[in-house]
Amino acid sequence: MSILIKNGRVVTAESDYIADIYVEGESIVAIGKDLPYKADKTINARNKLVFPGGIDPHVHLDMPFMGTSSSDDYENGTRAALFGGTTMVIDFILQTQGDTLKNALKTWQAKSEGKAIGDYSYHMAVTDFNKKTAKEVIHMIEKEGITSFKTFMAYKGALMIDDGQMVQLMKVVRDHGGLVTVHATNGDMIDSLIAKHRAEGKLSPLYHYLSQPEVTEAEASARFADMLDYASCPGYIVHMTCEGALNAVRNATTRNQKVFVETCTQYLTLDASLYKRKDGAKWVMSPPLREKKDQVALWSGINHGLVQVVGTDHCPFTWKQKQMGKKDFSKIPNGHPAIEHRMELLFSEGVGKGRISLNKFVEVSSTNAAKIFGMYPRKGTIAIGADADLVIFNPRTRHVLSHKTHHMNADYSSYEGFKVKGKTETVLLRGQVAIDKNKCHLEAGYGQFVKRGKTSLTI
Ligand code: URP
Ligand code: ZN
Ligand code: ZN
Repeated sequence: MSILIKNGRVVTAESDYIADIYVEGESIVAIGKDLPYKADKTINARNKLVFPGGIDPHVHLDMPFMGTSSSDDYENGTRAALFGGTTMVIDFILQTQGDTLKNALKTWQAKSEGKAIGDYSYHMAVTDFNKKTAKEVIHMIEKEGITSFKTFMAYKGALMIDDGQMVQLMKVVRDHGGLVTVHATNGDMIDSLIAKHRAEGKLSPLYHYLSQPEVTEAEASARFADMLDYASCPGYIVHMTCEGALNAVRNATTRNQKVFVETCTQYLTLDASLYKRKDGAKWVMSPPLREKKDQVALWSGINHGLVQVVGTDHCPFTWKQKQMGKKDFSKIPNGHPAIEHRMELLFSEGVGKGRISLNKFVEVSSTNAAKIFGMYPRKGTIAIGADADLVIFNPRTRHVLSHKTHHMNADYSSYEGFKVKGKTETVLLRGQVAIDKNKCHLEAGYGQFVKRGKTSLTI
């Protein structure tokens, strides 16, 4: 199968030019003006933007959490991602405390193999570190191509590891060329605030927000950076929400540290006033939405290179699932549906409103994730030899986000009625048309597991 994309405006993290792209099999074979190829299919991309396929490195598909499971499985979740231009996701395997990483990997392979439509990889969440785990970490890096290890500084009793385990893990990961990633919030402080609010009968979703003040994230981010420095290990902070946490990383840069930062579309576009609404449970996630001043800090962090990646932390639940916490905010499953609209929201709110450049958009939605997580240049760029993961995007199409039209398995949208300018029209995944004319043309099982290597981004 060959495809010729004609006259698109090709945008990568470094360049921006009009060209044709010729794709044969799974890869990009030629790029240039007036390419002389005859292809099985020709796509006219005149007046459209052509981006590398988006990479969302923070999703939770079919994940058991807080007494239920996130409502998108691999088939539905990766399909919804493709509709929005995200051709690859990195999901989180959760080690069960007391069990092995190997067993956790098997569980997640059973969820994804033969089911994913889009490409995927896994981060391995280490929730129980001991000598056996240390050996397994090395196996994951050297044999399985899983090179990033997620840690939680919160969710005590389920996912959290202590600082001693954290430093030991960092040393093993450092010695074998991997990366430690973190949910950086102070779990003990949060648990005590939750207990206080519950004891006072303060049980509405607003108290989810008030149980996780900015300091809980700023403190943990600084502590994580300090531990990384001590262990001489590179690290990555997931879903950063606030100015205080960003300042902790800014301080770490004075020690010339490699601390990568990811934020998510919701923290750039929504704020904590939503928790006062009757349906505030829709936005109960951890960390919570913050204030407008934090949005400004995050956009600025993107522009100044302190924030390298924009993901989603897609962890959807239906409204019925959210009702588990109808009478007590601490029982609301944490997370929201987001995988589908990451690229369009980032384009519309970022490029469309003059906050970031087109090149920066590509960098933070695709290229940097590919570099940080060891997949570049196979993924994350438009270049000869790269996977033909391409998004043909119409920057002028206006549309309105709604649960009635989205493809995620959630009966509400966090962005109901949100106006967006710019739409993903056609998506190629490894040389096949995945999305066109508002339809998905690939089947469950097309998505491949991508083995990853070492970080190649220098900051
Ligand atoms: O609320 C969230 N973020 N749910 C998913 C789990 C996590 O902490 O990332
Ligand atoms: Zn988290
Ligand atoms: Zn998450």
